[in-house]
Amino acid sequence: MEKKSKSDTADVLASQSDIPQHVAVIMDGNGRWAKSRGLPRIAGHRKGVERVRDLVTVCVEKGIKHLTLFAFSSENWRRPAQEVQLLMELFLSALENEIKKLHKNNVCFRVIGDITRFGEKLISRIRQAERLTQGNQALTLTIAANYGGRWDIAQACAQLARRALNGEIDPATITEASLEPFLSLADAPEPDLFIRTGGEQRISNFLLWQLAYTEMYFTPVLWPDFDRVQFEHALVSFAGRQRRFGLTGDQIEAARHA
Ligand code: IPE
Ligand code: IPE
Ligand code: MG
Repeated sequence: MEKKSKSDTADVLASQSDIPQHVAVIMDGNGRWAKSRGLPRIAGHRKGVERVRDLVTVCVEKGIKHLTLFAFSSENWRRPAQEVQLLMELFLSALENEIKKLHKNNVCFRVIGDITRFGEKLISRIRQAERLTQGNQALTLTIAANYGGRWDIAQACAQLARRALNGEIDPATITEASLEPFLSLADAPEPDLFIRTGGEQRISNFLLWQLAYTEMYFTPVLWPDFDRVQFEHALVSFAGRQRRFGLTGDQIEAARHA
């Protein structure tokens, strides 16, 4: 298991790299993009898929190893049934159209979230795509679908509780590190950079546990307009920050020059 927490100064220094290892994105603003053009909301979602394609390409080019995208939240079921239906169809067709190319580009594709509520065909395509690409190394592209940060923590607690009942662990010894292996992104480092497009400055129940020390970047740019240049702006902002993880700035500087 990869070490998750920044436990010493060396870990903190390693996290000061200009290029994030893991970028997590809330792709927001598709509906407003479409509405402002007099188009149906789904037209914005379709345009949004093109931006996903671009972002994956840029991440591979730059050596970013993990990209996690919020595609559908556990709260998005509250939307009009027709929009939900069209989003599911778009997910299926995007998967069918893109998976071969992702595989060719050495991208490992994964989905996190409770996908049991999706249609049988979509579930089986997701599993196929995960199996096909599981050995790929260039980039891990994780799609959060029917995902909620609270759901993630609760399902991890349920797994831990089951082990406690079986006598495999003693509840008195449970720490943060005991929970981490059961969280959805257990095998990835915590996100270094979080991006939310569309102007809202909130987490909307995305990765609650994993964003504890992530650098946040909010932009008013709507997701269908978030192109390579916009992503570069986010990376420049990230590179200009000093991550401290509770240390002082002087401690970081001293360690850097040691
Ligand atoms: C984000 O765009 C995509 C999903 C939630 C599926 P929105 O559909 O939320 O777009 P706005 O926020 O209404 O503009
Ligand atoms: C968050 O966007 C979820 C996704 C981008 C998939 P929302 O548009 O659903 O978030 P709220 O409702 O404005 O907080
Ligand atoms: Mg929105």
